[in-house]
Amino acid sequence: MTEQRPRDPGGLGGQSRRDFLRGSGVAAATAVLTGQATGVLDEAQAAEESAKVLSGTVEITLKVNGQERSCEVEPRSTLLDTLRNRLDVTGPKRVCDRGSCGACSTIVDGELVYSCTTLAVSCQGKTIETLESFETGEGSVPHAFHQNDGLMCGYCTPGFVTACKAYLDKHPNATEEEIRKGIDGNICRCGTYVGVLAAAKAAAQAKKGA
Ligand code: FES
Ligand code: FES
Repeated sequence: MTEQRPRDPGGLGGQSRRDFLRGSGVAAATAVLTGQATGVLDEAQAAEESAKVLSGTVEITLKVNGQERSCEVEPRSTLLDTLRNRLDVTGPKRVCDRGSCGACSTIVDGELVYSCTTLAVSCQGKTIETLESFETGEGSVPHAFHQNDGLMCGYCTPGFVTACKAYLDKHPNATEEEIRKGIDGNICRCGTYVGVLAAAKAAAQAKKGA
C-alpha cells in the first residue's frame, strides 16, 4: 500500500509549501546566476572587441600651426603627447596631466583646450594652434608678456600666453575682471599673476587700438 501524502493546503500540485519555496529559490538563484554569467560573458566579449579596436596604432593627420602633419598614434594618445612626442611641437607643457593646471593649453578650432585631456584622433580636421605660431610683434600677447614682466617659469608661461590669446581673440574688449575669469583655468603655484594680468590688459588695450 502506498503512503498517502497529505495534500498541500495551498494547492501547490502535490508539493509542500517548503518544497515549493525551495524550488522557487533555486529557480530564482539560477536566473540571477545565469544573468550574472551572461553579464560577465558580455563584458568579456566587449573587452575583447574594444581590445581589437584600440590596440595598435592609427595614422592621423593634424593641422598644426598651419601645416598638415601626419603621424602614427595609439587611439588613446592625447593631443599633448602627440604634439610633443610625435610632432616635436613642445610649446604646450605637461605638468599635472589631468586637466587642472593649463600648462598644456592649446587652441583647437578657436577654443582653448587642455591638450592633456584631449584625444589626438578627435582633432583631425580641426585647426590646432600652439604658441609657436603666435605673432610676437608689438601689440601681440607674447610681446605684452615681455613688456609687462608677465614671464613665469617655463611650464606656466606658454599656457598663460595661450590662454590669454584665446580669450582676448574672442573678447577683445574684456575688462580686468573678465580676463581674470577667462584665464582662471590656468594656475601658477608660485603666484606670479600680477605681471600676467598687466600683460593681458596691455594686450587687450593694444587690440582695441589696432
Ligand atoms: S598638463 Fe594639462 S592641464 Fe595640466
Ligand atoms: S611660474 Fe610656474 S609655477 Fe609659478
